[in-house]
Amino acid sequence: MKLFTLLLLPVLAYAVDWYPIDSKGEIPTNIKPYIKGQDVPFDCIQRNIDNGEHKFDDKDKIIYGPFPKCKETNKPLMFQYGINQDLNCTIQFTDELYHLFQLYLHEDVPFSCRLPLSSEPLSIEKGGASIPLTFNFRGTLSDSHIDIDHSMNVVLTKPANDNVDEFTFISAIAYGSG
Ligand SMILES: *[C@@H]1O[C@H](CO)[C@@H](O)[C@H](O)[C@H]1NC(C)=O
Repeated sequence: MKLFTLLLLPVLAYAVDWYPIDSKGEIPTNIKPYIKGQDVPFDCIQRNIDNGEHKFDDKDKIIYGPFPKCKETNKPLMFQYGINQDLNCTIQFTDELYHLFQLYLHEDVPFSCRLPLSSEPLSIEKGGASIPLTFNFRGTLSDSHIDIDHSMNVVLTKPANDNVDEFTFISAIAYGSG
């Protein structure tokens, strides 16, 4: 078991170039904006435990799956749009996660997730754009155990204006900051 405390910091951007990714490599036009406080679900790249390589489906597409479930909510970690908050998320270390965290702490592979720009359910699956959200965990590895900094800052940048039509994301990062 590992407890993570996450400090969520919404940051405002005043002049932005968009670098979204949609399936056609174009700037997305049909974003359904978030509502302040709305849940923002996100998913993460699934990796092989032996070498950290992506898992692929039978069409050679990278497989994304949920963030590990938090004991507190019994759901994968989720943020609320535009809300500054402290969150606790205790995750159960399965054998698989233990191996993967060795790779993450060793910086062999990143813990890579993605945030959908549109609040429409399953928007990415429907071809919608996302931005990357990487969790940079800090910690030390030894033969018998791993120590992880369990305090994380999560910074999510959004457009600075209050135009509700632009309630989406510009960039995101999460880093150990105990
Ligand atoms: C997170 O957990 C700590 C330690 O159990 C507790 O003191 C704190 O109130 C919790 N914070 C939230 C936001 O639940």
